[in-house]
Amino acid sequence: MQKTIKLYPDSGIELSLFSSSHYDKLMNVATFGAYSGFIQRAIEKIAIQPSDSILDLGCGTGRNACLMHKYLSGEGHITGLDISEVMGKQFKDNCAQFPNVDFRQHRIDIPFDLEETYDKVFISFVLHGFPQEVRKAIIDNAYRHLKPEGEFCILDYSEFNLANIPFFHRFVFRKIECKYAFDYIEKDWKEILSGYGFGDFSENFFMKRYVRLLKAGKVENSK
Ligand SMILES: C[S@@+](CC[C@H](N)C(=O)[O-])C[C@H]1O[C@@H](n2cnc3c(N)ncnc32)[C@H](O)[C@@H]1O
Repeated sequence: MQKTIKLYPDSGIELSLFSSSHYDKLMNVATFGAYSGFIQRAIEKIAIQPSDSILDLGCGTGRNACLMHKYLSGEGHITGLDISEVMGKQFKDNCAQFPNVDFRQHRIDIPFDLEETYDKVFISFVLHGFPQEVRKAIIDNAYRHLKPEGEFCILDYSEFNLANIPFFHRFVFRKIECKYAFDYIEKDWKEILSGYGFGDFSENFFMKRYVRLLKAGKVENSK
């Protein structure tokens, strides 16, 4: 199994071999068992339609794809992209019984063209881990891979001021998060996404409002 090559040394989402091999278990432990219920509630709020086609950027182990698959009929499908071979193996094992879910080992941080457009592009706990100019390339990839009325669904940290949150939460955030997450939480993401042709925003908050599902509709011809 090849070692993950760090494209961005300050990023925390380019996981070590150990973290990617045990990612789901580590998330369960780090959240004291709350992750499973949280991710189910978050995915429910995406409001997936039975025939949806979904592109999952930085899809990880396939845990999210399996949960999303529950809402699909045989007409819908999910494509997961991830740079990691270790994640890809887990994704393929976890989703093996679903013929309409596939994995491609693929970078998402540079322009690409899958020659297909999707009803939804989903990205979960990935965007915060990149420098801002790379996030813009990812947003552009999402925009170009959405159907005209498609939705970009970002599950990640919400916007908050570290100085204003309780000491213990600030301490944990500083301990676990990479450099890029600190500026991610300060940005006005609706304003940024508006500049990329998105609108019709809706949002749901989780984990004491530190996490948000932000749904952004593709607004045709606005780009
Ligand atoms: C924090 S994990 C989140 C995984 C999954 N989205 C989830 O919510 O469980 C970040 C994921 O992004 C992937 N990743 C990091 N850099 C990437 C890149 N340049 N292109 C594609 N995937 C990348 C990692 O391999 C990892 O699976």
